[in-house]
Amino acid sequence: MRYKRTVVASFRLGTTLCALLAPSASWAQGVPPLAERLQLCATCHNPDGNSTIPDNPRLAGQDAAYLARQLADFKNGSRPSPVMAGIVGLLADEELKPLAEFFSEQAPAGPTGAADDAAQAPGRQIFDEGILGSAVPACSGCHNDDGSGTEKYPRITGQHARYVVQQLMNFRSGVRANDGRAVMQAVAKRMNEQEIQAVAEYVATLKEEEEQ
Ligand code: HEC
Ligand code: HEC
Repeated sequence: MRYKRTVVASFRLGTTLCALLAPSASWAQGVPPLAERLQLCATCHNPDGNSTIPDNPRLAGQDAAYLARQLADFKNGSRPSPVMAGIVGLLADEELKPLAEFFSEQAPAGPTGAADDAAQAPGRQIFDEGILGSAVPACSGCHNDDGSGTEKYPRITGQHARYVVQQLMNFRSGVRANDGRAVMQAVAKRMNEQEIQAVAEYVATLKEEEEQ
């Protein structure tokens, strides 16, 4: 009898220890080191997050909380992306924050777009002043004059024009509807494709203003 009770007790102790030592199921299955994960991201976003492929956003210097939330939203499906859904499906929840922090800490490279003042003029006007006739607010009002954003608004300085067009089209159609209080959906729904194209070309030429 005594022996039996001891076996039961030690079995219970063993289970408790296992639970204490394994904080999550994914840990038990083995989350790969950050460096290994980063190799996967680098194939599309470059090792420092300054992606050179115009469909893939630049992540370098972006607000970490924003990046982490986008990863979580790809994972829960509230921001649909056939490409990123497959990627985040491989990641454990506890990997999202360190990945976001890594890319946030990387130095952003210069603008992806070529500055051509004549071609940029209509885009610059939308960015700085909005579109009066259709009540589009100035992008600079939220994203800053140089697109560098704030804690509340993501950085868009020098972002690839193609990616910016795609996102504005997704906000406009409601495919991307994970923006708080539908702020960006409201902005994009008031714009036509030509205006979206123009402002995206201008966004791609933006450079970070020197710190005063
Ligand atoms: C096969 C290419 C590919 C790989 C690999 C990849 N990404 Fe992406 N990533 C994309 C594309 C394309 C988008 C744009 C998705 C969309 O359409 O909204 C994107 C978007 C993102 C965004 C949203 C950025 C923003 O400004 O809103 C984050 C964050 C991100 N990726 C992080 C990662 C991380 C972290 C990894 C590695 C674990 C990774 N990506 C691997 C292609 C890739
Ligand atoms: C009232 C504030 C506000 C205004 C005005 C505004 N934005 Fe935004 N924008 C946001 C917010 C908030 C987000 C982040 C949405 C989210 O969290 O998913 C965002 C996201 C974006 C993104 C996606 C960034 C990424 O990395 O995927 C782009 C591109 C963008 N805005 C471009 C613009 C442009 C161009 C204009 C002007 C036509 C504009 N925004 C005007 C608030 C604003």
